[in-house]
Amino acid sequence: MEAATTLLDAEAVGDLVLLDPLTEESLLRTLQERFRRSDIYTYIGDVVISVNPYRPLPIYTPEKVQEYNNCNFFAVKPHIYAIADDAYRSLRDQDRDQCILITGESGAGKTEASKLVMSYVAAVCSKGEEVDKVKEQLLQSNPVLEAFGNAKTIRNDNSSRFGKYMDVEFDFKGEPLGGVISNYLLEKSRIVRHTKGERNFHIFYQLLAGGSAQLLQQLKLRQGSQHYGYLNREKSSLPGMDDAANFRAMQDAMAVIGFSPAEVTALLEVTAVVLKLGNVELSSCYQASGMEACSIAEPRELHEICELIKLDPGTLEQALCSRTVKARDETVLTALSVSQGYYCRDALAKNIYSRLFDWLVNRINTSIQVKPGKQRKVMGVLDIYGFEIFQDNGFEQFIINYCNEKLQQIFILMTLKEEQEEYVREGIKWTPVEFFDNGIICDLIENSKCGILAMLDEECLRPGVVNEDTFVTKLNQRFATHKHYESKETQNAKHVTDLSLPQHCFRIHHYAGKVTYNVTGFIEKNNDLLFRDLSQAMWAARHTLLRSLFPEGDPQKVSLKLPPTAGFQFKNSVATLMKNLYSKNPNYIRCIKPNDTKTAMLFTPELVLAQIRYLGLMENVRVRRAGYAFRQLYNPFLQRYKMLGSKTWPRWSGSDREGTEVLLSELKFPPEELAYGYTKIFIRSPRTLFDLEKRRQERINELATLIQKMFRGWRCRTQYQLMRKSQIIISAWFRGHAQKNKYKQMKRSVLLLQAYARGWKVRRMYRRYFRSDASTRLANFIYRRLVQKFLVGLQKNLPPMSVQDRTWPPAPYKFLAGANQELKNIFYHWKCKKYRDQLTPQRKALLQAKLCASELFKDKKTLYSKSLQQPFQGEYLGLTQNPKYQKLHAVAKDKLVMAESVMKVNRANGKTVPRLLLLTTEHLVLADPKAAQPKTVLSLSDIHSVSVTRFSDGLLALHLKETSTAGNKGDLLLVSSHLIELITRLHQTLMAATSQALALHITDQFSTRFQKGDVAITVVESAKGSNDDIPICKKRGSHKMEVLVH
Ligand SMILES: Nc1ncnc2c1ncn2[C@@H]1O[C@H](COP(=O)(O)OP(=O)(O)OP(=O)(O)O)[C@@H](O)[C@H]1O
Ligand SMILES: [Mg+2]
Repeated sequence: MEAATTLLDAEAVGDLVLLDPLTEESLLRTLQERFRRSDIYTYIGDVVISVNPYRPLPIYTPEKVQEYNNCNFFAVKPHIYAIADDAYRSLRDQDRDQCILITGESGAGKTEASKLVMSYVAAVCSKGEEVDKVKEQLLQSNPVLEAFGNAKTIRNDNSSRFGKYMDVEFDFKGEPLGGVISNYLLEKSRIVRHTKGERNFHIFYQLLAGGSAQLLQQLKLRQGSQHYGYLNREKSSLPGMDDAANFRAMQDAMAVIGFSPAEVTALLEVTAVVLKLGNVELSSCYQASGMEACSIAEPRELHEICELIKLDPGTLEQALCSRTVKARDETVLTALSVSQGYYCRDALAKNIYSRLFDWLVNRINTSIQVKPGKQRKVMGVLDIYGFEIFQDNGFEQFIINYCNEKLQQIFILMTLKEEQEEYVREGIKWTPVEFFDNGIICDLIENSKCGILAMLDEECLRPGVVNEDTFVTKLNQRFATHKHYESKETQNAKHVTDLSLPQHCFRIHHYAGKVTYNVTGFIEKNNDLLFRDLSQAMWAARHTLLRSLFPEGDPQKVSLKLPPTAGFQFKNSVATLMKNLYSKNPNYIRCIKPNDTKTAMLFTPELVLAQIRYLGLMENVRVRRAGYAFRQLYNPFLQRYKMLGSKTWPRWSGSDREGTEVLLSELKFPPEELAYGYTKIFIRSPRTLFDLEKRRQERINELATLIQKMFRGWRCRTQYQLMRKSQIIISAWFRGHAQKNKYKQMKRSVLLLQAYARGWKVRRMYRRYFRSDASTRLANFIYRRLVQKFLVGLQKNLPPMSVQDRTWPPAPYKFLAGANQELKNIFYHWKCKKYRDQLTPQRKALLQAKLCASELFKDKKTLYSKSLQQPFQGEYLGLTQNPKYQKLHAVAKDKLVMAESVMKVNRANGKTVPRLLLLTTEHLVLADPKAAQPKTVLSLSDIHSVSVTRFSDGLLALHLKETSTAGNKGDLLLVSSHLIELITRLHQTLMAATSQALALHITDQFSTRFQKGDVAITVVESAKGSNDDIPICKKRGSHKMEVLVH
């Protein structure tokens, strides 16, 4: 809305069409007020007026680019980006080739504007590696061309001294593909001469300031512009312009564009040659014939040039100082005077440089050109030198101003004349607006029969003495009555005395003002001839680039035909340009220079007013106001907006015009806003169009939503139908499956019922044949069968006979579990019995003894576990075999139970002595082993009790009854190596004899009765005894004895 308010701000309207009242003064005031507010851009409809601020403004930021991207031209604040965006969008979306025509005086900001347009388009079009490369190449062509083609003039520090038209080519998506640059008429005279306060082309200063010492040495140049005749001798650097940095930027730009290092070197070498040519000094001498001739004054510079371009110095010297003239079949070498020599030198320098510039443009074009075959859309940007009025205007100004005249003509034709003619053509009611048509001036210059340029060509080609005097005379005759032509002579004829118009001059009343041209040099510059000797010398050089610039120097291709004149060439290229521009949709940027001093934000009303006048801005506004801001053929209009009308959407079957009328009447725009032509619809104010566009945008959103809605609906419906179909299939299958199951179950039930019923029927039939206890019997039968099967199975599957094996098969039926357990027990007992039955009496007795030992000692005495492995042998002495023991054998007779060696503990001191021990069914005998005589014979009934320790020793105390005879000596302490067996047998023998159990004490402390009184025996367990298994008895006083066992 900010933009809309600025457009309507009465003090400083953004669109001059809205100016009220419309006067030159109000227009100027508005521009001034806007300029004061730093609003440098103003519209006249869709034409942008730009006033140079001469200072950087913060309105070209990326944010601004975003703001104007896809903007509505009339909805945002006036800006150059808005026109760039409008042009780019109609190129991309409506397939219309565009051209952006930037016009204005020198220093008005045309080049800056063109760069802004290019950078805007580069910023908004899509990104990608390839696209970015193209964009970069297109943008980087600027620093290169500016270095070689721009120079400081009095009016502009960076004045373009050539015309530039750049076609940027896009693909159908709006992505840049490449481009073509056309250049027009480089001001080559600047090479050799420039006004005080101006400079030669930037490249020379950049090279000298920014070239490294090595590069300068390679180019045979010296640092500092004061060394070079073609450069200004005064201060050469410019405030705010860093030549060295610009040189680096230019080199970088060349690399981006794709120049090879060899090409850059060649380019700089040729540039250096131009610079050095200016230092070639000539001196005069006289020939033998007395004719003046010239020669090289100081050959060093010439030699260096020749070294650079690999040419024989003699060839160049001869080409510079003499001229070959062909007369019939003879070739004559004529010496040149010093002035002619200098002329030659300068002509060569100018030609080399201008051809080098053409080569540079072509080289850039090779890099940025688009591959043929691709369909493309084009946006042309024209930045051509501005209209120039100097004190002394020459051929260049004439050509430049002619070009500007043509551009003005385009503007007039497209915006004013064309517009008015269109209203008439379309049958729209219209009051014509007066405007100045500069066609007459263009015709004055370019008319192919009697235009100034044609007459100049005629003069140049005319045999005989040719000079500018005859040319002016002819002009005076031809245009004596022309309104836009003036000269001393025509003035005289009209009795006007104007001292500002000297003799050798003519004046043209251009659209932008009167310009007086001095004809001196017109013919020479128009001819633009370079002596063949020079081009041949250049061709002879072995420097590839330089040589390629002078193809006509090839002696093989000598042509006597004169080359086309500069004016003729320029006229043709302007005609081509105009044709090109006419084929495109024009967008205008009209640049205005606010002051002559390049001062920031200074507005000189007189200067601006002059520009307002010659740019025809007033007429432009008037026609805009009187006319219609927008027109379009009915068909595209209807196609674009038909969605806004209920009757025209989606299809209109009538004519396009009727459709448009129906549509607009439905939209209820005021009738004065619209006019219906024969083929086009006209809309008066931009606001109506803006409104139309806004409504279209909203409607498009609605339609997009509708399409989205329909699509989503369709998608959901299809999805739903698919799901429904699937669901039906699934449920059909499922139902089928359920019914099948149900049927199977019913069938089973029916069969069961049937079976029951049949059974019942049969039973009823056969009931009488059945006995009442049939079922019990059946059950018993089955039961028996099962038991039988179980038992037979068991028989076949009996476990092994080993008494240690207690396995038994499990019961196959629960009801057999009890019986099975019982059978298991019986089987086991039976197995054990079988085992017992097969035992021998000895073995049986042994096992009984073992059983008895276990009852006596298990878990009571440690020695027991050791005895388990030892079989009870009973007889350990071999009484029968050994004759020594005959007596003892006799004593035992048949009653021997056990015989072994024991140790008897001395009751007095605890020491042990060996003894033989015999246990019979009645006695216990101790005998001396040596004599084998019984020493002590105890009746078993004398034994009162026996004490043993808990440990694994063999000590036993035989407590004797006091009453017995043997008991007089006291109790016996013995150590047996078969203690367990001994006591077990003793016990068994006692049981057998007396039916009384042996009184056995297993204890650590017991009392013995010795002859000398009772002795308390304490058993002590020691870690390790001295003798194996033999306990050590130690007497401790008279009543105590300690037994160490282990
Ligand atoms: N939009 C702008 N913002 C800031 N400064 C600008 C702007 N446009 C132009 N200038 C200043 O004005 C100077 C001259 O502009 P520019 O070179 O574009 O003029 P021109 O119209 O191309 O002149 P010529 O016809 O001599 O080439 C620039 O160097 C720059 O300093
Ligand atoms: Mg310029």
